[in-house]
Amino acid sequence: MKTIIEPFRIKTVEPIKMTSESERRRLIERAGYNTFKLAAEDVIIDLLTDSGTSAMSAAQWGALMQGDESYAGARSWYRFESAVKGIFGFDYVVPTHQGRAAERILFSVLVKPGHVVPSNTHFDTTAANIEFAGGKAVDLPSPLAKDSSSRDPFKGDMDTERLEELIKEVGPERIPVIMVTVTNNSGGGQPVSMANIREISRIAHAHGIPFYIDACRFAENAYFIKLREPGYADKTPRQIAREMFSYADGATMSAKKDALANIGGFLVTNDAELAARERSLLIITEGFPTYGGLAGRDLEAIAVGLEEVLQEDYLNYRVVSTAYVADKLDQAGVPVMLPAGGHAVYLDARRFLPHIEPLQYPGQALAVELYVEGGVRGVEIGTVMFGKDPQTGKEKPAHWDLLRLAIPRRVYTQSHMDYVIEVVQAVFERRAGIRGMRIVSEPQFLRHFTAEFAWLD
Ligand code: F0G
Repeated sequence: MKTIIEPFRIKTVEPIKMTSESERRRLIERAGYNTFKLAAEDVIIDLLTDSGTSAMSAAQWGALMQGDESYAGARSWYRFESAVKGIFGFDYVVPTHQGRAAERILFSVLVKPGHVVPSNTHFDTTAANIEFAGGKAVDLPSPLAKDSSSRDPFKGDMDTERLEELIKEVGPERIPVIMVTVTNNSGGGQPVSMANIREISRIAHAHGIPFYIDACRFAENAYFIKLREPGYADKTPRQIAREMFSYADGATMSAKKDALANIGGFLVTNDAELAARERSLLIITEGFPTYGGLAGRDLEAIAVGLEEVLQEDYLNYRVVSTAYVADKLDQAGVPVMLPAGGHAVYLDARRFLPHIEPLQYPGQALAVELYVEGGVRGVEIGTVMFGKDPQTGKEKPAHWDLLRLAIPRRVYTQSHMDYVIEVVQAVFERRAGIRGMRIVSEPQFLRHFTAEFAWLD
């Protein structure tokens, strides 16, 4: 059959509260024009994030009841550890309550003031944790990613020529780790090729630098490799994931994404001494090394989710349903990041609103208008999120100004997505009348979460 269906039936439902446009105008104004400050109940289709928002399966809910809540050495821990080792292939697993806790621990151990940590593109919490430890986070996205309309298959790759230049410039001794984010969330959700992962690994190891994968969306990345990279069509997503990790010295993971869980994360490494140092920090802030800030039932849900996320029917549905939205919008002339990534559709706010300068936050203006138009909540990934240097306080345009519509896993149906497409098109038709924004108040770190905005005159 040509029609690819959601490979699940719905067993439990959650009602959606409808709102009117005039209510939404009032609500977003009260939220300081920041979509993070809306009450979720006032959102019709919530595409703020794919993180922690997955619908769990009957098998996961069943596993919750099996949770062993013993403080040390719980059965759920061994189940979790074995699922993680089976897929990631590292010797040491350090559980954390979510991805950023894994980042905080890793960078507290590795990064010293004056250090530089390159990546294809760091996620905001990753960059913030590096900077909090006194280091500098440097993004080296592929030059192909600049053009949102090109259909290159691996626009999430790192620019390895610039990586070599950077190593020469700052010296390998000042680079404690090289990261790659799969898929490249802040760079349009684009996948990273196996060839690129192999090349980054080669360069890192030639200079004696550890190489880490930010693995939040590892299963989607593995599936894109299967679909798009020669030589992988006959491999399973699990085999591809194992190969990706085989080139790395460790990984950080948020189980809120490709583990289909609502909370959780972990760090993995093959370095016994490093794992011991990480565990010492873990005990101070997260918990004992066999639960790390998670309940036994969470460990169970993650163990099951890690297996489910690698099923090909699921991954096929995932990438096809995301591409459905991106392709429909592209056909309607709406500027979107192409080809579609796995977890989100990214509107190119600079091309959508060419009359708004990056420093007048076109992505933010678009986020507000999508909410007003149809109660659709997305998030700006652009100059609000990345434009300000927290050390110097200076502001400059980010690499991109995108509006991300992240699609929670197994949550929305195709008619929900048809509604989203209609909302985006309606805003696109009246785009010439949309104004830029200014920031009224903001914190020092991760300003996009709490900043407040106003319309420019
Ligand atoms: N790395 C990447 C690539 C991420 O996308 C995220 C979270 C994290 C690390 C941190 O993980 O949330 O479990 O602490 N991304 C979410 C998002 C928040 O909306 O993209 P966390």
